[in-house]
This record gives sequence, C-alpha cells and structure tokens, in this order.
Amino acid sequence: MLDILAFIEQKRDGKVHDSIQIENFVRGCMDGSVPDYQIAAWLMAVYFRSLNSEELISFTRALADSGDKIVFPEDMVVLDKHSTGGVGDKTTLIVIPIVSSLGVPIAKLSGRGLGFTGGTIDKLSSIPGISLQLEAREFINQVMEIGCAISGHSKALAPAEGFFYALRDVTGTVPSIPLIASSIVSKKLAGGANRFVFDVKFGNGAFMKKKDESIALAETLVGLAKAFDKKALALLTNMNAPLGRWVGNSAEVQEALDVLRGDGPQDTRNLCLSLSAAMLLIADRVKTMEEGIACAQKAIESGKALRQFKKLIEFQKGRLSDAVLAGEEMMPLAGKIAEVKSDREGYITACNALNVGLALRKLGGGRMKKGENIDLTVAIELLKKTKDHVDAKEPMARIYFNNENSLEEALNLIRDAFVVGEAPPSSELLVERII
Ligand code: URA
Repeated sequence: MLDILAFIEQKRDGKVHDSIQIENFVRGCMDGSVPDYQIAAWLMAVYFRSLNSEELISFTRALADSGDKIVFPEDMVVLDKHSTGGVGDKTTLIVIPIVSSLGVPIAKLSGRGLGFTGGTIDKLSSIPGISLQLEAREFINQVMEIGCAISGHSKALAPAEGFFYALRDVTGTVPSIPLIASSIVSKKLAGGANRFVFDVKFGNGAFMKKKDESIALAETLVGLAKAFDKKALALLTNMNAPLGRWVGNSAEVQEALDVLRGDGPQDTRNLCLSLSAAMLLIADRVKTMEEGIACAQKAIESGKALRQFKKLIEFQKGRLSDAVLAGEEMMPLAGKIAEVKSDREGYITACNALNVGLALRKLGGGRMKKGENIDLTVAIELLKKTKDHVDAKEPMARIYFNNENSLEEALNLIRDAFVVGEAPPSSELLVERII
C-alpha cells in the first residue's frame, strides 16, 4: 500500500521515489483511490523538484503500460516522428509519404491542435471522408500493407497519460521537462513504433520559448527513448516565424501537396528534407544526413512521394480529387478576404509565429479547449516572409475568414507580427542542431 501523503512529501522535499512507489501511485490514480487534489500536489512537487532519470523511466513505463499497446511483428523496424508543435507545421503530411515511399514503415500517431499550435489530425480532417481514428488492427494492417498510417490517439493507448495531461492542463504543471518527456515517450511506446525522430521546436511560436530549454527537452526525449532500447534522434528547429506561407488547416494540406509536387516554400521543403533524412538515418537506410536528403529529394522529384500520399489518403477513405493533387484546384478556403498592408517601405525583419497562431485561433481555426469544433477553412497567407522587401501599402498577409466577430483582433495580431526594418536580417538556421 502506498502512503500517498508520505509520497507527496517525499517529492516536495526533493527526495527520490523508487519504481514500486511510482507504479503504485499511477495505479492508484487510475483506479480512483488517489484523489485529484493529491495527484495535483504531486505534479506541482515534480514541477519544482523534477524527476531523476530512474524516476523518469519508471513513471514513463507506468504510463505506457496503463492500457493497450500496438504490437508490430518482432524485428520489424517501424518509425514514428513527433513534433513538439508550432505554427504552420505541416511537415508530417510531407515527411510520412516521402520516407515510407522509400520503404521505411511509419506508424504515426498524431494529435489535434491546442492553443496557438496546429495538429495533424485537424489538418487531415479537411479531406472529405477520411478516417482518422483507426482501430489497432486496421492501423497495423495498413502499415504492413502500404508502409504507413496516420491515426489519432486511441483513448485505450496509455490512458494514464491522458489522465495526467488533463490534470496538468488545469494545474499549471504542463511546462515541466520530465512531465512533457514522459507524456510524449509513453504515447510513442504504446503506439508500437521502435525508432523515433523528435522535432523539438524553440522560439516564440513553440511551446518552449528558450533554446536551452528545448535542448534540455530534446536530450531528455532522446535519452528516455534510448532507455527503452529505442533508437532516437532529435532535431532542434527554429519556430520564431511560421513555417511556410500558409497557416490554417485545409490550406496547410494544400501547401503540403505543393511541396510533395516539388514546389512549395523553401523553409518547409528544407525542414522536411532534413526530417526525412533523420528518419532514413535512424532506420539505417543511409549513412549520413546528406545522403538522406538526396534520397528524400529523389522521392519528391520522381513523383513517388506524391503517389504514396495519394495511397495513404485513399486507404484511409479520404477523397481528394486528381485536380487538387495536381495543384489545378485548391483545397476549400473561407470565402471572405482581408489584407494586412505595410505602412512603410523596407525589409521584413521578423514575422512573429505566436501572433499568427493566435490570429488563426481568433478566426476560429484553432481551439482553446480540447474537443472544441474549429473552422478548417480559415487561413492566413503570408505574402511576405522574413528578408523579403516590401513597399509602403503593399500587402504582407491575406486572411481568409468566414466570421467577422474577431476579425479586427486577428488583423491587429498579424499587423503586430510583422517588423519592417531598413535592411534584411542575417540568416537564422532552421535546423539548429541534431541531438
Ligand atoms: N505534448 C505532449 O504530448 N505532452 C506534453 O506534455 C506536452 C506537449
């Protein structure tokens, strides 16, 4: 029997739990014998006192083992990729078809957007008919048959993770590196993949604003995955500006298709090539990032990656016309348009991703609380990106919206997102480092 009060006091005083205590605690939380107020007190103690690496492994294992698990055949290499979340981040839609078209199986579990960040499941929901809540058997069969599947998390996988996340969300204990890392890795372990690439973002449009916090998170994620004998790599990537030219759910599917056809914005294309290369590296398909980038580029140029995207969508019962796939027709966009113009001539020195993410949410394209409905057709088109020249009165962004209610606020957020200076800024690296 766990003495829950002594357990909380132990962490409050910075002492170390053993693995049996942690297992009993997680079990007690899930069977209702530990009340929420004591769980919340423990979470806050962890927020201030942290978990050492043994505690982190025990807690992650207890979360991962709390429900069903997806199991692929032994010895099968299966990858998953995880982004810590950003604005305009449509990389999953591009990287999964690229890498799986090269023969590397990917079992991708994704989430919905929350706050100012978007989620892959919302973006894909803009494709009519698509099925995004696959049963474990369907998920496994699809990966075996076509080499990839994308599904929302089933509540049956790592249910304790969802339970703890909901409490963290309302107790100010989300931004804790051990709690974030255990949350992410436990879901990945339950999802059946055995090699992981983490895209850990830093900057104003990321969950972690400071680079050193992101480095600590990236190192913790990779170390934790390795403690479970899973190969892992993390890319530390810049989220100070939105990725690509489009932010908004259906518009981002459109932009992902542009990149898969060999077009699309350079920042998005480059990040996707790097993420694909990291996945090929971790799958032992290439020996260097450069070789991986070249393979990924070839998958795009040959049309293989786009064909794989089409297959993935069709397999999940989505209906995308050939005209949309070919870029001859657009994904649905909200019908009303407003523009944000520059009040001076100069160069764009910054485009604040957080403001753009918040503006999309104001327009109804993002949610404040889990479960809220969102408008998948609202979008922000960035006509100017950092370093671009702009004339006075020239449009910098275009907003596609349906509802005028929060339009003024959204326009102000976007106006404030842009900084126009005398000279273009020096280049910032998109991929800062690989961990
Ligand atoms: N993403 C997750 O999956 N979990 C967290 O705790 C934070 C971000």
